[in-house]
Amino acid sequence: MSQRINRRTALVHCAQLASAGAAGSLLPHTVAGTQTSASMSVTVLLNEPTGWIKPALYGQFTEHIGGVVYDGIWVGPNSKVPNIDGIRRALVEHVRRLGKIVIRWPGGCFADAYDWRDGSGPREKRPRRFGRWEEVTESNQFGTHEFIKFCRLCGAEPYLAGNVGTGTPEQFQRWVEYCNAPAGATSLADERVANGDRDPFRVHYWGVGNESWGCGGKFTPEDYCTQYRRFTEWLPGYGVPLYLIASGPNGNDLDWTRRFFKKWKDYARAPLSGWAAHYYCGTTGHALKFTLDQWYEMLEKANRMERLIVDQWAAMGEFDRAHKVKLLIDEWGCWHPKGTELNPHHLFEQKSCLRDALCAALTLDTFNRHAEKIDMANVAQLVNNIHTLFHADGDKFVATPNFYVFEMYRPHQDTRGVRMDVQAPAIKFHAGREQQIFRVAGSASRADRKLTVTLVHTHASEPAEVSFSIRGGSADHVQQAVLTHKTLSAHNTFENPNEVVPQTSSTPHRGATFTCVLPPASVSRLDIVLK
Ligand code: AHR
Repeated sequence: MSQRINRRTALVHCAQLASAGAAGSLLPHTVAGTQTSASMSVTVLLNEPTGWIKPALYGQFTEHIGGVVYDGIWVGPNSKVPNIDGIRRALVEHVRRLGKIVIRWPGGCFADAYDWRDGSGPREKRPRRFGRWEEVTESNQFGTHEFIKFCRLCGAEPYLAGNVGTGTPEQFQRWVEYCNAPAGATSLADERVANGDRDPFRVHYWGVGNESWGCGGKFTPEDYCTQYRRFTEWLPGYGVPLYLIASGPNGNDLDWTRRFFKKWKDYARAPLSGWAAHYYCGTTGHALKFTLDQWYEMLEKANRMERLIVDQWAAMGEFDRAHKVKLLIDEWGCWHPKGTELNPHHLFEQKSCLRDALCAALTLDTFNRHAEKIDMANVAQLVNNIHTLFHADGDKFVATPNFYVFEMYRPHQDTRGVRMDVQAPAIKFHAGREQQIFRVAGSASRADRKLTVTLVHTHASEPAEVSFSIRGGSADHVQQAVLTHKTLSAHNTFENPNEVVPQTSSTPHRGATFTCVLPPASVSRLDIVLK
C-alpha cells in the first residue's frame, strides 16, 4: 500500500468526539472545528511513479431502473424540459464536466433481461414491456441509438452490458455487429444506418452478463465461465478492439473469483480483458440521519474497497501471473434505506450528503493509488438513484456533493500517479466493537509541472494541521479547493443547490515543505505548480 496509517501513534480522540456531540446522538451535528491536533504529515514522493490514472476510473453507471433513464436522462424530444433530441440538456452539460469518462448501460440486473432489439427502430413502433425491477411499463424509447447519442453529447465512451441471464450468444454477437460493423458490410450495419446512424458506434467495452452469481442467472462460477466462453467465442470486433468484461464477485468473494479463473484457465483462456467486481458499502443509520459513530463506520465500510482490490488482484494473479486481465469495479457506492426519494417513482433514489461525498472521495483516492490494477470503475448510479451525482425531476435539476467530488478529482485523470506517504493518528469509534478509521488519506498524481494531491480528512469536528513535504521537487504555487460543511448531513436541494460546493483559494505555500490545514469532515485538492 502506498499509504500507511501509523498505528504506533493511533490515539483515541475521546475528548474530541465528545466535543462534536455525544456519539450516539442523532445528526445534524454542527461541528465547531477550531482546534488543531496531533502531528500529521503527508509526503509526496515525486520520484516514485505508480499507475496511469485512466479517465475510465471515474466512470458512471446508468440502468433502466426507477428514475435513472426516464426523467433522469430521457425526457423526450417534445418535453418542455430543455433537451437535445430528448436528452436532458442540464445533465449533458454537467456530465461533460467529468472528463472523458465511460458510461455503463443498460444495467445492472436490467441488462440480463433485455433484448437490445426492443430499443432500436422507429420509437413509435418499439414494443412496450414490463421493466426488470417493477411491474411498470418499459417504453423502450431510450435504446442503443439514444444511449450512444447521450455518450457522444457528453464526450464519454459507451460500455454496453450484454444479456447472459435470459439471452443467447447469438443475440449478444448481433448487438456487437449492429453497433460496430461498417455501413454496407452486413445487413445489421445497414439496419443501423436506416435507423439513423451511418457511422459505426465503435463500442469497445462489452460486459458479458451482470452479477451472474445473482440477478444475472444465479450461475455457479463454473457454469458462468462456460457461458462466458460461448458468448465470446469467435466474436468479431469489426475493426474495433473489443474489451470483454466478465461478471466478477459480489464484494470481496474470493471463491467466485478463484473458481471462475480456474475454469477459465482450463478452457484455454477465452478472450477476457476485465474482471468486474461490485462493491456496495451499504449504509449506517440513514441517508441523512446518523450518529457520530455511524459517520465513521460508513467511511470505514467505504474504505474496505482497498482490501477488496488487493485481495482480488492477488487471487487473479494465481491464475493469470502476467496480470493481463485487469480489475474493474463497475458498480460501487453507499446504499441507504428508503425514505429520501424526491419522487416516489424513482426506485432506490436517495439523498446524498457530505458523508457520501467523503465516501466517494476516499474511493476515488483508492482507485488512484491502485491505478495499475484497475481499468475502470462505475459509480452506481448517475442520476436519481443510489450514490447519485444528480437529482432530476421534471424541469428541476441539482448536482449532489458527489458530483463536486468527481469534478474536483478530474485533474488526476490521464496523469501518472505518484506515491504518497501519510502519517496520521487513526480515529477510534464504536460499531458493535471498537474499530478505527484513518484520519487522513489521499492520492497524488503528476503531469509535467502540475502536481495534484487530493486528501480526505475524516475527523468530524477538528481540523488537521498537516506538515506537507514534496520529496524530489518544490512548490512554486499552491491552490487549495475544499469541500466541507459545518453539518455532516448537509446536502444540496432543488431550492438550495449550492449548500455543499467546493471553495477554492490561493495559498501562500511555497517550497518543498509547508503546513496546510484540512478542515474537519472535508475533501481537499491541492493544485501544486512545481518549480
Ligand atoms: O444498482 C442497482 C442494482 O444493484 C444493479 O442492477 C445490480 O447489478 C446491483 O445488484
